[in-house]
Amino acid sequence: MDKLRVRDARESDLPEIVEIYNSTIPSRMVSADTEPVTVEQRRGWFREHDPSRRPLWVAEADGRVIGWLSLGDFWDGRPAYHATAEVGIYVKDGYRGGRGRPEADRGGHRTRARARDRDHDRRGLRPQRAEREAV
Ligand SMILES: CC(C)(COP(=O)(O)OP(=O)(O)OC[C@H]1O[C@@H](n2cnc3c(N)ncnc32)[C@H](O)[C@@H]1OP(=O)(O)O)[C@@H](O)C(=O)NCCC(=O)NCCS
Repeated sequence: MDKLRVRDARESDLPEIVEIYNSTIPSRMVSADTEPVTVEQRRGWFREHDPSRRPLWVAEADGRVIGWLSLGDFWDGRPAYHATAEVGIYVKDGYRGGRGRPEADRGGHRTRARARDRDHDRRGLRPQRAEREAV
């Protein structure tokens, strides 16, 4: 793999973002979606992002998008939650194992990540949902 580059996503990246997302749906372990989503369905979600506050980053290598990270409003977006964000992080199958952390740490932001999923914890499985709080 050539050097990893992380940048703000462009709308033209959306097909690759969606493809990576959809690849995780059949496992039923990552997303609450049970059917693949379309690029058109995700366009509104894409446009909700704001590089200064709720960024959507893509990681590129080998001339393609190999992962993405999204910060979204937590819960219902009420003002007291402004410093808290929900994180979605997806690395393309075949590139996992060592790529998630550099993508998540991008930009020198001091962040504290907490991965938790009470059901999975109870069953001794690895958590599949992550929430990130900016500090
Ligand atoms: C989760 C994911 C992004 C991790 O990427 P990766 O390249 O495999 O991660 P890394 O090898 O860089 O590991 C980074 C850290 O995350 C941890 N991690 C990896 N997968 C994890 C998971 N499913 N749940 C919780 N933590 C996980 C690793 O243990 C490591 O922590 P450590 O450095 O303290 O040991 C990747 O496995 C993926 O895309 N999975 C499918 C999508 C998904 O489950 N996203 C999370 C929900 S939004």
